[in-house]
Amino acid sequence: MSASSASAGAASLKVRVRPATEEDIPAIQEIYAHYVLTTSASFEEEAPTVAEMTARLQRIQSRGMPYLVAVHKNRVVGYAYGGAYRERSAYRYTIEDSIYIAPDMLGRGVGNSLMEPLIQKCTALGYRQMIAVIGDSANAASIALHSRHGFAVIGALRSSGFKFGRWSDAVLMQRPLGEGDTTLPKRDVSGRKAKRAR
Ligand SMILES: CC(C)(COP(=O)(O)OP(=O)(O)OC[C@H]1O[C@@H](n2cnc3c(N)ncnc32)[C@H](O)[C@@H]1OP(=O)(O)O)[C@@H](O)C(=O)NCCC(=O)NCCS
Repeated sequence: MSASSASAGAASLKVRVRPATEEDIPAIQEIYAHYVLTTSASFEEEAPTVAEMTARLQRIQSRGMPYLVAVHKNRVVGYAYGGAYRERSAYRYTIEDSIYIAPDMLGRGVGNSLMEPLIQKCTALGYRQMIAVIGDSANAASIALHSRHGFAVIGALRSSGFKFGRWSDAVLMQRPLGEGDTTLPKRDVSGRKAKRAR
């Protein structure tokens, strides 16, 4: 994947976005662990190990879903991936994004640089809807990033999380991909011919 420059501004960071590999997982685990342990952006409360994060990468890749990293000067400074929104089969055209940027690189366009190719890849794979489940109504950065990339707030699962001794909302944002629901799918996201309406 080609290099992409971050949003304009003196502080913007030029990063290269490419598919993640298992060698990237220690850096990814470190980034994610920071947010698990210090914020409600994730509703996990214990930081997953490198082995667990490797297994998660393998699961995403085995389903052909995109898992991207942003690299600056040979360092992984952020990552984003698409995962199943829900496992039940009728949800198969819907994908959920996850995106995390290294805490010392926030607000420098890395999120934008990852989100754009992630949306492009999910669209090309045939997904029709993308969902963001955002930890905490106060997560202004994530709500702004998703709004910027065409997501609209659908609602919030009020006080559905309890972390650090307080209730947290999960904010749901959604955007269509490609033709969205204006046409029926011609092929399954697995590449098979899609089942037609009955
Ligand atoms: C949310 C997150 C991925 C955004 O990445 P980022 O690299 O900091 O964001 P960018 O610099 O690319 O900015 C993206 C947009 O959001 C806006 N933005 C970024 N931080 C913001 C903040 N704290 N408040 C308001 N807007 C903000 C930017 O202005 C930009 O909009 P623009 O392009 O229209 O100017 C990053 O803050 C992060 O990792 N947060 C913690 C983990 C998390 O919440 N992940 C999302 C889970 S759903």
